[in-house]
Amino acid sequence: MKTVKTIEAMRRLVKAARSRGKSIGFVPTMGALHIGHISLIKAAAKKTDFVVVSIFVNPTQFGPTEDFGKYPRPLKADLEICRKAGVDAVFVPAAKEMYGEGKLTWVNVEKLGEPLCGEFRPGHFRGVATVCAKLFNIVMPDIAFFGQKDAQQAVIIKRMVVDLNMPLKIVVCPTVREPDGLAVSSRNQYLSEKERKYAAYLYKSLQKCRQMVAGGVRDSSKIRSQMRRILNNVPSIKIEYISIADAESLEPVKRLGGRVLAAVAVKIGTTRLIDNVLLDAGGK
Ligand code: PAJ
Repeated sequence: MKTVKTIEAMRRLVKAARSRGKSIGFVPTMGALHIGHISLIKAAAKKTDFVVVSIFVNPTQFGPTEDFGKYPRPLKADLEICRKAGVDAVFVPAAKEMYGEGKLTWVNVEKLGEPLCGEFRPGHFRGVATVCAKLFNIVMPDIAFFGQKDAQQAVIIKRMVVDLNMPLKIVVCPTVREPDGLAVSSRNQYLSEKERKYAAYLYKSLQKCRQMVAGGVRDSSKIRSQMRRILNNVPSIKIEYISIADAESLEPVKRLGGRVLAAVAVKIGTTRLIDNVLLDAGGK
């Protein structure tokens, strides 16, 4: 496994792999790797010949009061995980390498970045789309792999690739969960023991939604109020949003039909957690 810090070295590695006839798979991450990330690496290894992982805590996607400073950066352990998972190359650029010339150009996927997390994290998705566009231009993968865990991010990146005619495919992989249903996340390690137990209620609220839809309920406000009841019973939780939206446009739906995204965001203490499920509510 090669570890490289510069754009030039990254490009050289990919070019050499391509000249050996290999297809390129790419998994962009911010490190603090866990089984969710590993599932993306495994998917990439299955579908492509040469797997690149990037580890970069991207400053442009954090708000001024967010956790950029304290975001975990266990680089040595991350590299070991990559090595064991069979990654071919890890790209670990410094912020200066990625943004050294200053920053005038942004990629902004309009509308899709506004609802849900966009409302609570202004500028976040602009930072995500911009860094992913840069990373795609550096790595030039055939396929990039994203997690359903960050549903809005996946929708935005897919749209960016279509709108800007980027020559790669986006594959979205299922959310990996802990035994109690909590979606695995680098931010879970911020939770105290008590908060960790409370965090399982996010998925419980989404399961309630799934059950109601399976039981024939189609009224969004009815479902959301049941979800709210579950979450409101959890101590030290602050709900940011409970949303049922069209899975592609991300616009809220009043009556469920077709593919819908049920998504929740909460703060438990100071830790922000998100989760979602995709549901098929049948013909509209
Ligand atoms: P990060 O939070 O490190 O996540 C990297 C990738 O892992 C994302 O595609 C995310 O959806 C996926 N992922 C995280 N937890 C997962 C889980 N439990 N199951 C399945 N996949 C999971 O998302 C980012 O980094 C950044 O925004 C990035 C795309 C790298 C741009 O900076």
